[in-house]
Amino acid sequence: MSSSASPASWYLGPRALQKRLAALPLPAWRFYDVVGSTNDVALQWAAQGAAEGCLVIADAQTQGRGRSGSRWWTTPQASLAVSLIARPLPTEREALPRFTAWAALALAEALAQTHGLQAAIKWPNDVLLEGRKVAGVLAETLWDGNTPQAVIVGIGVNLATQAVPPRQEVDFPATSVAHVLGTTPDRWALLDALLQRMLFWRNRLASQRFIRAWENRLAYRGEIVQAGTHQGVLLGLDAQGGLRLRCADGHVETLYALQGHLRPKRSPQVG
Ligand code: BTN
Repeated sequence: MSSSASPASWYLGPRALQKRLAALPLPAWRFYDVVGSTNDVALQWAAQGAAEGCLVIADAQTQGRGRSGSRWWTTPQASLAVSLIARPLPTEREALPRFTAWAALALAEALAQTHGLQAAIKWPNDVLLEGRKVAGVLAETLWDGNTPQAVIVGIGVNLATQAVPPRQEVDFPATSVAHVLGTTPDRWALLDALLQRMLFWRNRLASQRFIRAWENRLAYRGEIVQAGTHQGVLLGLDAQGGLRLRCADGHVETLYALQGHLRPKRSPQVG
C-alpha cells in the first residue's frame, strides 16, 4: 500500500461512524456514499427545520461546488466533505462571512492538533499547506425574505493524494494532507478535531479573540498581494474580519468581500 492509499479504517459504515461521532454533541447527521453536493442536502434539510449542528457527510460528491461557481472535486475515499448547519443568532446576521472563517480557522487548528501541521488561511475561505490549497470552505445562506434562516458551512479537504485535482482543472496549486504528511490521515479523527474546534469557537465568533486567532493564521501577512482589483501589502484584519491592505499610495483599503482572487505577487512557494 502506498502512502497515498486509504487505510483499512478509512471507510466506515454508518454504524461505525455513529460510534466515532457519538462523543460529539451532534443533534443528527446524514452520511452518503455518493451525493450531488452535501451543501444541497444540508440546505434542503435546514429548510425542513434541521437544528444547529446537524451535519451532512459524503464519501464522494458528483456536483461538489466551490466558491464563485467553481467545481469541487470529491473522489471516493480520498476526501473529507461535510456540510454543517448553523442557525445564526439575530446578533450574527450582519456578520455572515464570519461563518466561512469559522470553519477555516477550526480546520487549521484541527490539522495542527491532530498532525502538527501549520496551515494558513488564504482569506477568505481557503486553507493552505506549504503554500498550496488543501481545503476550501463554501458557506451558503438559506434566506426567508431578508432574514437568514441558516448558514450551511461546507468544508472540503483533500486528504489522500487522489483527492488533488489535475493542475489544469484548478486556478491555484493544490495539495493533500497525505502529500505533506507522507501518510494518509484518519479522516474521522480529523473530523472529530474539526468539530471540536468549531464547537469551541461557535459562541465566540463575535469576539476579538476569534479575530486575532484568525489573523494569526492568515497567509501572506506583510507581503504584497493582489486581491481582486486591489493591490497592496496585506496588513491583517480589522475588528470585523475585513482584510486590510496598504496600497501603493499609502492609504489602507479594507475589504469585506472578495470579487475575484487573492494572490501573492511573488510566485507561490510551491516546490
Ligand atoms: C472553495 O474552495 O471554492 C470551496 C470548496 C467547498 C467544498 C465543500 S465539499 C463539502 C461542501 N459541499 C459542496 O458542494 N461544497 C462544499
